[in-house]
Amino acid sequence: MPRTPVPGWYRTCGCMIGKGIILAGGAGTRLYPLSRVVCKQLLPVYDKPMIYYPLATLMQSGIRDVLLISTPKDLPRFQEIFGDGAQLGLAIRYAKQDRPEGIAHAFILAADFIGSDPVALILGDNLFHGRTEAFLTARSLTSGALIFGYLVGEPWRYGVLEFDAKGRVTGIEEKPDRPKSSYAVPGFYVYDARVVEFSRAVKPSSRGELEITDVNLAYLRRGELRVELLGRDLAWLDTGSPESLAQASHYIATIEDRQGVKIGCLEELAFELGYIGLEQLEGLIAKMPPSPYRNYVDRVARRAT
Ligand code: DAU
Repeated sequence: MPRTPVPGWYRTCGCMIGKGIILAGGAGTRLYPLSRVVCKQLLPVYDKPMIYYPLATLMQSGIRDVLLISTPKDLPRFQEIFGDGAQLGLAIRYAKQDRPEGIAHAFILAADFIGSDPVALILGDNLFHGRTEAFLTARSLTSGALIFGYLVGEPWRYGVLEFDAKGRVTGIEEKPDRPKSSYAVPGFYVYDARVVEFSRAVKPSSRGELEITDVNLAYLRRGELRVELLGRDLAWLDTGSPESLAQASHYIATIEDRQGVKIGCLEELAFELGYIGLEQLEGLIAKMPPSPYRNYVDRVARRAT
């Protein structure tokens, strides 16, 4: 059987942006009582925990040095699942966020991790599928910030871009009552190391959080914010409410079933990206219990022999 074609860009990840943060804390109140059992980012999205998908997106973006931030209660569970990340060819570190003080708070917690390097941030409940190679453009960031815009039907639920007549971004508003466009800002951002000082300068919003939108505005005011609009060939799914979580599960199930390939399979990605070799992949398979997931990863390994 011919190999399933793996997009060429999977292998082009020798990138400058090596560091990424996954923000996987928060209270998950909209998912209560589901979030009583386990934190939002460990809830299932079809056949995998939610966190697999944003971690896969970071890996596809060429990021191997990862800081995972979560609550003191949930962090040990993530550590148990991913350890130091070496089994996937990654280096995963962890940081606690005692209270949900806002997305920008992540950069203050990550100051030592960031050092003087650029860093990407992905929200642990944002799921991307399709032509995510747009995120590889993060590789070319040496200074300033890069965020994205995505056309949505309900922009008031997000950070929303504002454009002038020439299509240049002139403003961003967090959950506006009257959105100035239908372009929302998805939870994948890239910044230079100044993001730490800009985040420290942000004042808590009316909901008591350090808003990521205020950090983006700090770059915009300096003329250092690059915004790329994502196309319809990329799916950006929300998973923060019971309805959107169910929709995301159906989406993954439909595509996986139709194509016979898995989305967000970390072992497959680590292997396809060259982060681990065949022997290491076989070692991971040996530790998996008999399951359709194991059978799938096993097929990936056998394709390569
Ligand atoms: O999904 C994209 C949107 O995410 C952006 O368009 C908005 O500009 C941005 O503010 C954010 O909006 P949300 O209100 O949807 O963010 P939420 O509070 O749901 O947090 C997103 C994720 O980050 C979620 O997985 C929980 C986690 N989180 C959030 C906060 C505030 C933390 O881990 N710690 C926090 O302090």
